[in-house]
Amino acid sequence: MKQLMIATSNAHKVNEFEALLKPLGYEVKSLLDLAEPLEIEENGSTFEENALIKASAVHKIVKMPVIADDSGLCVNAMDGAPGIYSARFMGYDTDYDIKNREILAQVQNSEDKGAQFVCAIAYVESETLQHVFTGVVEGKIHDQILGEHGFGYDPIFYYPPFHTTLANVSESLKNEVSHRSRACAKLIAYLEDQ
Ligand code: IMP
Repeated sequence: MKQLMIATSNAHKVNEFEALLKPLGYEVKSLLDLAEPLEIEENGSTFEENALIKASAVHKIVKMPVIADDSGLCVNAMDGAPGIYSARFMGYDTDYDIKNREILAQVQNSEDKGAQFVCAIAYVESETLQHVFTGVVEGKIHDQILGEHGFGYDPIFYYPPFHTTLANVSESLKNEVSHRSRACAKLIAYLEDQ
């Protein structure tokens, strides 16, 4: 069986990727399987760079194909912020209710309410065989916090085709259109061709 490492310690992400990759014949490992905890500094300036930095760093250590992802919310009226700083915006441990209120306040008087969720997934098989797949979902910053599903910035992300926020639909419906599933679909199409 082919082995593949997901460069994350987030068990939820591991399960998500495992569900997608097992049917393709991959045995999925993660940073949780390593004896020592691994901290990688994400010092790139784009989602793609950060995903590649993470995947390459882990590949150097584990010497097997590695997948790493980086994602976040880009708000037009905030010049693309919080972007790659989405998790760190206003502090890692700050409640998303506070982060979301701050974004609503910053966007309130702007004509352009546009926003995108972006996800970059890097696949590093060797030092020379590396690819990055990007998925984007276009929406708007809503005028209020709405919905109980999902996580992070979902309650303020209005998705026009659903006529509501991504936190106000089921997780499975969100996953049909999400930036992560779009990037994943590209990765899977690539792996299926291998
Ligand atoms: P990471 O890619 O796991 O580092 O996620 C970065 C951050 O982007 C998360 O902590 C969230 O703040 C935000 N984010 C990424 N994807 C989503 C999403 O699907 N919904 C809401 N927030 C998200």
